[in-house]
Order: sequence, then structure tokens, then C-alpha cells
Amino acid sequence: MNALEEKMKQKDIDKFREDLITWFEREQRILPWRENQDPYRVWVSEVMLQQTRVETVIPYFRRFVEQFPTVSALAEADEEKVLKAWEGLGYYSRVRNLQSAVKEVHERYGGVVPAEEKEFGGLKGVGPYTKGAVLSIAYNKPIPAVDGNVMRVMSRILSIWDDIAKPKTRTIFEQAVSAFISHEKPSEFNQGLMELGAIICTPKSPSCLLCPVQKHCSAFAEGTERELPVKSKKKKPGIKTMAAVVLTDDQGDVYIHKRPPKGLLANLWEFPNTETQKGIKTEREQLEAYLEKEMGTTAEIGELEGIVEHVFTHLVWNISVFFGKVKQVSDTTEFIRVTKEELEEYAFPVSHQKIWKMAEESGRL
Ligand code: ADE
Repeated sequence: MNALEEKMKQKDIDKFREDLITWFEREQRILPWRENQDPYRVWVSEVMLQQTRVETVIPYFRRFVEQFPTVSALAEADEEKVLKAWEGLGYYSRVRNLQSAVKEVHERYGGVVPAEEKEFGGLKGVGPYTKGAVLSIAYNKPIPAVDGNVMRVMSRILSIWDDIAKPKTRTIFEQAVSAFISHEKPSEFNQGLMELGAIICTPKSPSCLLCPVQKHCSAFAEGTERELPVKSKKKKPGIKTMAAVVLTDDQGDVYIHKRPPKGLLANLWEFPNTETQKGIKTEREQLEAYLEKEMGTTAEIGELEGIVEHVFTHLVWNISVFFGKVKQVSDTTEFIRVTKEELEEYAFPVSHQKIWKMAEESGRL
């Protein structure tokens, strides 16, 4: 028997399960994705909730399922509209993968989200967490759904000191949840763990006195709840300095650029921009050189208007913002020209929405 199994043997697992589920059934928050068990809606919610807080997700979820209410609606939707509906949520590969997977469900499974682990888990972007969450919540399958919140809760319950920042640690928690999970109510069990992590067993100051499973918790007994989970610090994010320009013509139309189909913020739209280096050339000169060389465009660029900072997980963008008037545009340019009104239909990363806002507030757009 390994150390984890030894620890679990000492727990009254039946009682833990019962206490957690009773509490969840009584105390769960009313959330739009809990209105029914439609597997498509559950799936959309779980994809949105990865990396994003519940309060942020709620309005996005409502709009998304209203605009794309079914598998077939999302499968047949224009990618541009789908990205627009996701605009501001970040981690855009989530929604590109979701749409690819939904297309496969539409074509291969007649629009019915498969309930089998192998089939659902084989879809694009469906990792172990999404698989467990959707299949347990929508189809009542006893499969663990282990994310950061669940690792925090279980590390405290069982006093597990493995580093949760390491990918392989997840399997330890999957093993533990598999042993604990209710076979009668796997949906309530998994959601109970998520809910506990969200409202009681929080990272910095857990509300142990209100915890429904306090008497099963090793960390509470040992007074180590604030030391757990162990999570090693990630490397500091790198900083990229850039210059961007809101480029308009005499009619007030705007020039925008589509990002490449692969990589960070793929297929989103942006204002013309380039990475800048400290050196002999000013930022404005570097921007002009980029417009001329890469885009066959000449422009008159004004003074620095402001700085926009955006923090990604591993990267910070520091963007100097300029406004400019187009002088000449060649036919080969990758920019498209749109009216102010049309701009609304394109999906922009948050950093470029901030640039847009800056231009609007100063009366340039
Ligand atoms: N976090 C991840 N999945 C969740 C869910 N279904 N409800 C609330 N919070 C969550």
C-alpha cells in the first residue's frame, strides 16, 4: 500500500462524501449553467471556467448560449462571430478548439455530445479535467475532474505535500478523487469539491469554521491549511515592448490587421504594431519602418499618446500607442480598411480594445 492509500484508509470516506454532497445540495450557488444538464451547455461553461473566474464567465456564458444555443448552431457558426463572442475572455485557443470539437460532434455523432470517456476525451481540447467535469455533471459518470481548486481542497483534506505546479502531480489527485467519488451522485460530488474550493476552502484564508468537511480535514487538524497546497513559483514573465498605431484616412476609416492563424491570440484583429528595440531609432521611426517595409504603407505619425500594458501568463506586453494618418497604401498590404461602425464586428485582444478606447476618448475614432 502506498502512502496515499494509507492516508485514505484512515478516512471515513463514506461520511466525507455524504457531508460534502449534503452541503452542496443545500448551499450551491445559482449559476446559469446549473439550470439544466444539457451536455453542450455544461461543456461550454467548463471551457469558459478554465482560467476564468465565475463572476466574469456568467455574462459571457449567457450571451454565448443565446447566440449559439446548440451543437449545430456553434458547429455552423462563422469563426469571426465565435471569436467576437469570446472577445475579452482570453486564452482564445480554448474557443477555437471548442468549435473544432463541436464540429466533430455535429458530423460524427449526429450532434449528440458523446457520453463515453474514449469518445468525448478524444475530441480537440478535451483534457482530463474537461472530460471529468462534463461527463460527471451532464451524464452522471463517476470520473474525477481535477483542477487547481480541487487540488487545493484535496491537498488539505489528505495532507498531500506534492508540488501542484508540476503536471504529474495531478495524477495523484485523480487517484484520490477516484477513490472518494460518489457513484450515486458523481455530479454533486465533483461540483461540491469545486464549490468548496470556490467559497470555503479558498487559497489565502480558508473559512475552516464554516467548512462542512472540517472534521475530515488533515490540514485543519494539523493547523497547516495555510501552508497547503505546495505550489512552486513560476518564472517571472518576459516583457515585450511594442509600438502600435491607430491609423485612419481622411474619411475616418481605420486600418486593421489580422493576426496569424497560429500562436498567441491567433486570428484576432489588431491595430498595426511592431516589436521595438531600445537603440538609435525612436519608437515612431521603428513604427514607420515597419509600416513601410512590411506593409507598403506610408503614414504621418503623431506624438506618443499613451502606454497600454497587458499581462499574459508568461508575458507582459508594453505597448506605446500612437495615432497616425495614412498617406499611401500599396495593393499588397495585409491591412484591411473598415469604417468605425464595422470595427465593432471584429474581435480584438483586450490590449487592443484599450488602444481603441484611448482613440475614442481622444476623439480620433
Ligand atoms: N469551476 C469550474 N467548474 C465549475 C462549475 N461547474 N461551477 C462553478 N465553478 C466551477
